[in-house]
Amino acid sequence: MSGIDLKSFDRIVFFTGAGLSVESGIPTYRGDGGIWREYDYQEYACQRAFDRDPERVWGFHDLRRARVGEAQPNAGHEVVADVQRVKPATRVVTQNIDGLHQRAGATDVIELHGSLWRVRCGCTPARENTEVPLLTRQCDRCGDYLRPDIVWFEDPMNHAALDAAMEAIRNADLLVSIGTSGVVYPAAELPRLARSATLVEINPEDTAVSQWYEHRLRGPASEVLTSLWKEVGA
Ligand code: OAD
Repeated sequence: MSGIDLKSFDRIVFFTGAGLSVESGIPTYRGDGGIWREYDYQEYACQRAFDRDPERVWGFHDLRRARVGEAQPNAGHEVVADVQRVKPATRVVTQNIDGLHQRAGATDVIELHGSLWRVRCGCTPARENTEVPLLTRQCDRCGDYLRPDIVWFEDPMNHAALDAAMEAIRNADLLVSIGTSGVVYPAAELPRLARSATLVEINPEDTAVSQWYEHRLRGPASEVLTSLWKEVGA
């Protein structure tokens, strides 16, 4: 037994990172097999790289889209969506760009780091959903290449998403952090805003921020979330 009775909370926030999608076959960023071990972000995930060589950067992102497109949400994503159905005030704040929460049925997902499935141009705040490869599509207004709507290294945060996340977390009575290393700021710091919430961390390992959490549930996300959900008899 985890000692956490999900039934007794109403304003649950799931705060998620790459570890939640591992069991869908999507690698994390850090650690063994991590994306940033194989690809140097300075070549693939920053505006300077895109300005230098947009086709190379799009090639990397299209590979990622192909891999994520073939993946399916796992039992962890499904539990998050199920909890939201039963407890409608539940909010999902994710650092993930893969869209798997939404594909599992979660709604109003706050995407702190953007999405692999949207594009934008620097000349306008407008975003566009797209699933087709985009190697060389240019902006109708300014002629620049459209870029992924992802918060790359050195990019400013999306303020609307950050504000929405802060509001949800400040109001939370339970915050469940899942599969994040807690080393990328400002996202890593957000759980500290949940001052009146019970704090739970789900991760197979200790992280840089484990000390903030009163409950540390060690194991793969799908397993731990499924057993938490079973404990409430769902
Ligand atoms: P990281 O790759 O930094 O951390 C992944 C975490 O998932 C680690 O703490 C692992 O221990 C944990 N993990 C591994 N397998 C797991 C499993 N089966 N269940 C649960 N947890 C598991 O990923 P993030 O913390 O999400 O930015 O990284 C934060 C940001 O850094 C990302 O959003 C990304 C990256 O640069 C962008 O894409 C813009």
